[in-house]
Amino acid sequence: MSTTACCGSRGSPVDIDRLERFWIMISIAVLAALMLAIVYSVRGFGVEVPTDVGQVDPRTARETEPFNQPGVRQVGPGHYEVVMLAEAWRFEPSEVRVPAGSTVTFRLTSLDVIHGFRIPNTNVNLMVQPGQVVEATHRFNEPGTYHLFCHEYCGAGHHIMDGMLIVER
Ligand code: CUA
Repeated sequence: MSTTACCGSRGSPVDIDRLERFWIMISIAVLAALMLAIVYSVRGFGVEVPTDVGQVDPRTARETEPFNQPGVRQVGPGHYEVVMLAEAWRFEPSEVRVPAGSTVTFRLTSLDVIHGFRIPNTNVNLMVQPGQVVEATHRFNEPGTYHLFCHEYCGAGHHIMDGMLIVER
């Protein structure tokens, strides 16, 4: 914390304050760059943080709205809701169909252990925990078959736990 000069290894004077200021500036610049990267990824890529949308008792989830009727339903013009159950080692339903251009809200819960729910090349990426309801929304403009799968290790059949979203023309 001395203010002016001290001695370098060869006895030359070193301005500690200037070096300290320099490295403090670098750390501030790195923090600012990381903050900007977060803001950019949220704005630019539509990153959504899964929010608390409710709880459901996993033992009675099958009898509880809306999980007593898993599947696709239209909730508005061009807007569909997909209600899905995750359990070892499948999604129910494992295949859903929506028309191209639809906005789809996925609503899931788990009946047993922690599962994942991921659709590559979209922002749909959820951790599906028993007792917790989770949601993610994405607009599907391109017709095609979208693979969805569990990406949280959930036991022996984890690697076969997957499904399809078919976006029809
Ligand atoms: Cu379910 Cu991995």
